[in-house]
Amino acid sequence: MAIALVTGANRGIGRETARQLVERGYDVLLTARDEAKAAAAAEEVGARPLELDVSDPASIARAAAAVGDDPGRLDVLVNNAGVGTDWGTAGVAPDFAAMQAALDTNFFGAYRLTVALLPLLRESEHPRVVNVSSGMGGIAEMGGWSPGYRVSKAALNAMTRILSTELADAGVLVNSACPGFVNTDMGSQFGAKKPVEDGAAGIVWLATLPDDGPTGGFFRDGKPIAF
Ligand SMILES: NC(=O)c1ccc[n+]([C@@H]2O[C@H](COP(=O)([O-])OP(=O)(O)OC[C@H]3O[C@@H](n4cnc5c(N)ncnc54)[C@H](OP(=O)(O)O)[C@@H]3O)[C@@H](O)[C@H]2O)c1
Repeated sequence: MAIALVTGANRGIGRETARQLVERGYDVLLTARDEAKAAAAAEEVGARPLELDVSDPASIARAAAAVGDDPGRLDVLVNNAGVGTDWGTAGVAPDFAAMQAALDTNFFGAYRLTVALLPLLRESEHPRVVNVSSGMGGIAEMGGWSPGYRVSKAALNAMTRILSTELADAGVLVNSACPGFVNTDMGSQFGAKKPVEDGAAGIVWLATLPDDGPTGGFFRDGKPIAF
């Protein structure tokens, strides 16, 4: 059975991604920064719980060691955990502490975790990494406001390009996904209507790509979008 790990999966798009991967027959490590929330969500969707705060390097090291012990393998990593720390803040008057907090989770967290799990992913026959990004991080259509969130997702997209290039020969497919404007705790405060099932579907598609699938791309609902 293929093994998948999803971050920030106690609620929202992460939990739904974990649920859909279980439905497809994956053995899913459902991770959350709160141990009890990980356990509750894992029970709901039929996954295994694991405590993981991606903004804490020690927590990443502990989680990577735990995965290395049991199940001792990893095929799919979904870097989903994300925070919006400076919604509506103007780029001309940035809150650098909030920007740092967005980077710590959305960029450094995903990057550190991916590197920590790379030895296991390299041993997989069909390794996949999905970075849950946002159209707000696309440089081609970059607009104003929320600079911390935007820069963190642009940096995450850069990581997708860097690692997909370096890991192409190893067969690791690394892609970014924008879930769209999804009705979760994050999206609903701005009136998002897209059902969470639909937002997660494009992530699950990238997590379950065939070996000749794309790498180094940025997709929404299975279609390429501009970086
Ligand atoms: N919703 C949208 O419209 C939308 C659009 C574009 C991109 N996205 C991206 O999609 C991803 C999921 O968003 P969502 O809508 O599901 O948001 P959400 O409902 O706010 O859920 C965010 C999840 O991330 C977790 N998280 C936050 N910081 C963490 C940390 N340091 N370590 C581990 N987990 C952490 C949260 O855990 P706690 O419960 O402990 O806080 C929660 O489980 C995010 O990366 C977001 O940027 C969402």
